[in-house]
Amino acid sequence: MNSEFVLIVGGAGYIGAHTCFELLVSGYNIVVLDNLSNSQKESLKRLSTLTGKEIDFYEVDIRDSRSVDLVFEKYGFSSVVHFAGLKSVGESNSFPLKYYDNNVSGSISLLKVMDKYNVKKLVFSSSATVYGTPKELPIPETAPTSTINPYGQSKLLVEKILVDVAKADPDWKIANLRYFNPAGAHFSGLIGEDPKDIPNNIMPYISQVAVGKLEKLSVFGGDYDTVDGTGVRDYIHVTDLAKGHLAALNYLNSSQECGFSSFNLGTGKGVSVLELINAFEKASGKNIPFNIVARRQGDVAACYADPTKANKVLGWKAELDIDRICQDAWRWQVNNPTGY
Ligand code: NAD
Ligand code: UD1
Repeated sequence: MNSEFVLIVGGAGYIGAHTCFELLVSGYNIVVLDNLSNSQKESLKRLSTLTGKEIDFYEVDIRDSRSVDLVFEKYGFSSVVHFAGLKSVGESNSFPLKYYDNNVSGSISLLKVMDKYNVKKLVFSSSATVYGTPKELPIPETAPTSTINPYGQSKLLVEKILVDVAKADPDWKIANLRYFNPAGAHFSGLIGEDPKDIPNNIMPYISQVAVGKLEKLSVFGGDYDTVDGTGVRDYIHVTDLAKGHLAALNYLNSSQECGFSSFNLGTGKGVSVLELINAFEKASGKNIPFNIVARRQGDVAACYADPTKANKVLGWKAELDIDRICQDAWRWQVNNPTGY
């Protein structure tokens, strides 16, 4: 199975590049397709340095069906891992059509080409954002879904489309991966998260405060019903997450069962903002100045995974803890102060 090609859509981005690494070192042949709207070719160059393998890359938008079709025609893909999406909640509130077009229409375009070429194994990047305000913790895959912003809505819509596609045609095998909070970087310090503007997410924000690029962190809310009043999240090392994709792909390749299946990819452990700041200070040896400010609209108090299903079905488990996440995030930040 490993001799066939896997198409990695959005593979030049943060999670995509880490997944490409894990697939390459496991012997998969990959082709990357990305429009570089939020990434740079340099990530792929560094992957080649790390693995000693050349990567076939196509700078193509998934909505450009004709160009995607040509790539499918050229290779006999066995499966697709689909990361391509816009991911900023704030931006999605301002430009909902941009998000629905890119994330939903883009996914439909891709699925149509897959269908045409009879490529029916898919790993999809969803998010814990589909759980909305969780009613139970840790969150199992069976928890109800709801969203309050166009970004989250776009993920949930694609999930629903995938459910219908798998229902209509039993040949489809779809692993829907709901990520909790991806963070950290590759151990080498060569690939990592490279946000274009001021980061929205806390890990890249803290890194930039530690390196002196940003002045101080605003902690959004100190009065939640949590261990210390700050928001609690399930931070998962991006390398663990990447290995989750490898496990999902291996599962789709070996399982006789067909259809759509969701998996939580998280550690199962909640970490508060203050605990995260402490861990980052320890890893970096730097002081992280912060102010506790008002809650951010749309935030939940606590969100962490029940990852039992991924463990049982995929044989996958997150192994790296918050200290390791911070050490690797810091190494990436110090080695690449201006990104790629
Ligand atoms: P990223 O922006 O680094 O990677 C996404 C990649 O997709 C980028 O390289 C971008 O250029 C590409 N892309 C976007 N739209 C495209 C299009 N129309 N055609 C071709 N390529 C396109 O983001 P990431 O953090 O690696 O996230 C990957 C996926 O995981 C996204 O779908 C995101 O919504 C989802 N996700 C991310 C997080 C997170 O915290 N990073 C959490 C949950 C889910
Ligand atoms: C956010 C998105 C979510 C998306 C996820 C991954 C919102 C409301 N949610 O999740 O939809 O799937 O990113 O991209 O934007 N925090 C601070 N100060 C900061 C930034 C964050 O205190 O400057 C806190 C937050 O209040 C939260 C925690 O840090 O408690 C994590 O925040 P963040 O990294 O933005 O992730 P989520 O809010 O979980």
